[in-house]
Amino acid sequence: MIDREKVIEVLKTIQDPFLHKSLLETRALRDLNIKGDFVSLKLALSKKDSVKQMQIQVELSTKLKNSGAGSVGMRFDTLTDEEIRALGGFPEEGRSLLSPQSKTVFIAVASGKGGVGKSTVSVNLALALARLGMKVGLLDADIYGFSVPDMMGIENRPKVVHDRIVPVERFGIKVISMGFFVENNSPVIWRGPMLGKMLNNFFTDVDWGEPDCLLLDLPPGTGDIAMDVHSKLPHSKEIIVTTPHPTAAFVAARAGAMAVKLEHDVIGVIENMSYFESRLTGEREYVFGKGGGKKLSSLLKTELLGQLPLRQPLAREGEFAPGVYFEGDPVARIYDEIAKKVSKKL
Ligand SMILES: Nc1ncnc2c1ncn2[C@@H]1O[C@H](COP(=O)(O)OP(=O)(O)OP(=O)(O)O)[C@@H](O)[C@H]1O
Ligand SMILES: [Mg+2]
Repeated sequence: MIDREKVIEVLKTIQDPFLHKSLLETRALRDLNIKGDFVSLKLALSKKDSVKQMQIQVELSTKLKNSGAGSVGMRFDTLTDEEIRALGGFPEEGRSLLSPQSKTVFIAVASGKGGVGKSTVSVNLALALARLGMKVGLLDADIYGFSVPDMMGIENRPKVVHDRIVPVERFGIKVISMGFFVENNSPVIWRGPMLGKMLNNFFTDVDWGEPDCLLLDLPPGTGDIAMDVHSKLPHSKEIIVTTPHPTAAFVAARAGAMAVKLEHDVIGVIENMSYFESRLTGEREYVFGKGGGKKLSSLLKTELLGQLPLRQPLAREGEFAPGVYFEGDPVARIYDEIAKKVSKKL
């Protein structure tokens, strides 16, 4: 007589065709009904594929009948993305950055409001971490307001190799941005679900290799996209950028609160546009006020990683990258100090 235990025994011997794990391991069984010798079951496979589905149907039906089933009814479903991720993803696709085995640390760069310097900080912190010898990726997750390609002066586009997107490499950093997939700087007009898919693609369809860390330049504030990025990355570290004005710190604290709610580890605060230093006299003027970074870091019980002056990057002969502080620039030295602190926290 066929019973539940016998069905389970059979599921152990059949593999999901794409995950290469047994149907028991993948928790494929969604529904099981046994009436006399009639077995009806519903199975979730990792992908919809009619040929593989048919093969499984034949194999399973034969094995169940050998175990005592008279007739077998079968329906199919698909595993969710989360389930697939939890199972380590598809081995063919190489190691996904989102798989639990991945060694890549995510560092999201967030702020409470726009224009405080998230993108500038993301780009230059990426470069500084690379100068420390780390393998670094940079994901411009600001889908509507992408700016990383311009800041880094990237003119080429990613290549597609074996159906996977190869990030553009610039100054040793692997970069992906929505800007690479938009024609002539036209605005992005997609809405919620499409955007979510795009972000997913940036993780699953991009061949990042195995960077030590992946910096994410988030869109400003605590809106849907920022939230979406956050929730896709369950174990992200987070850096909050603020300006020195004390009220700016309050706004930024909301971004911090969101990170805390999502159980992200806020590793520090960076205060940008902290002061202007005269090149003639060295005198500092606190153009946007004082104390915001300190206040925010104590509110969030985290460290103030550094304070960056208001200053245009020095140009480098033969390189066009208007947002990059190259080595030798006094601001690059401050980024190096910040990078050292960050790397200790990874
Ligand atoms: N320390 C600085 N000194 C001088 N200019 C700066 C500094 N930081 C940022 N900027 C400039 O300020 C502008 C805003 O910076 P950035 O784009 O990095 O901010 P953001 O927070 O990413 O903005 P958004 O919210 O629009 O994404 C840019 O033109 C940038 O070049
Ligand atoms: Mg930005």
